[in-house]
Amino acid sequence: MRIMAYQPVRRVKSGIPGFDELIEGGFPEGTTVLLTGGTGTGKTTFAAQFIYKGAEEYGEPGVFVTLEERARDLRREMASFGWDFEKYEKEGKIAIVDGVSSVVGLPSEEKFVLEDRFNVDNFLRYIYRVVKAINAKRLVIDSIPSIALRLEEERKIREVLLKLNTILLEMGVTTILTTEAPDPQHGKLSRYGIEEFIARGVIVLDLQEKNIELKRYVLIRKMRETRHSMKKYPFEIGPNGIVVYPSGEIY
Ligand SMILES: Nc1ncnc2c1ncn2[C@@H]1O[C@H](COP(=O)(O)OP(=O)(O)OP(=O)(O)O)[C@@H](O)[C@H]1O
Ligand SMILES: [Mg+2]
Repeated sequence: MRIMAYQPVRRVKSGIPGFDELIEGGFPEGTTVLLTGGTGTGKTTFAAQFIYKGAEEYGEPGVFVTLEERARDLRREMASFGWDFEKYEKEGKIAIVDGVSSVVGLPSEEKFVLEDRFNVDNFLRYIYRVVKAINAKRLVIDSIPSIALRLEEERKIREVLLKLNTILLEMGVTTILTTEAPDPQHGKLSRYGIEEFIARGVIVLDLQEKNIELKRYVLIRKMRETRHSMKKYPFEIGPNGIVVYPSGEIY
C-alpha cells in the first residue's frame, strides 16, 4: 500500500521583511489576498513591494494594475524607496497596467492601458492577456472600489469579483487585491462585503494612536492553509519600503 506523502503548500515570499514569518514563510501559492485598511495605511506600498521584490529577489514576474494613480506617478512614488520599476518592465518581469490616464483624459505612452469605461469581460480578458504575456506569477489590483467606478454599471462589481475569482484560480497567480474598509476593526472589512469571501486571506493595515502619535499596525485576519496569530504587529514605512516587526517591539 502506498501512503500519500503530505505535500506542503509552496509559499510565495511577500518581499516584506518580517512579514513572512508570521504566515509560515509566505502566501500559499495561487492564493488571493485582500489587503484592506483606511486611507494612507500603506496598501499601495505593500502591494508594490510584493510585485517589485518578486521580480528583483525571487525571479517571479508580476503585473500591477493601477486604478488609483497613473503608472508614471506610481513609478515615481516607488522610486522614493529605491525601486526602479522601469528596469524590470524593460526586462519583461513587471508589467504595469495603467487604468487611470484614459479616465482623466490624459494621453498615455504606456504599453498596457485600460480604456476609460470597460465591461466586465473585456477587463478580465485584458488582465488575463497581460498575465500570460509576461508569464506572471504575481498580480496586484489596486483597488477594487476603483474597478467599480470604471464599470459601465457599478452594480456589476459582484459579477466582476466572482468572475475574477474564477480566472485567478485558473491562472494560478498569487494575487493581492486592495480595498478600503470604513471600519476594519469592527467586522466591516471591505467596501462591498463580498471581497473577503473570494479572498483566501485577509490582511488589515491600520493606524492607531499611541502617545499622541499614529502608529502603523498589520493584522492577519485570515489566511487559509496557514497557522498565524491574530495579534497586531507594528510596521514602518521607511526608506526601503515596509518592514514588519514580528517581535512586536519598536514602539
Ligand atoms: N518614501 C517614503 N518614506 C516613508 N514613508 C513614506 C514614503 N512614501 C510614502 N510614505 C508613507 O506612506 C503613506 C502612503 O502609503 P500608501 O500610498 O501605500 O497608502 P494607501 O493605503 O495606498 O493610501 P491611499 O488610501 O491613498 O491609496 C504616506 O502617507 C506616508 O506616510
Ligand atoms: Mg493606495
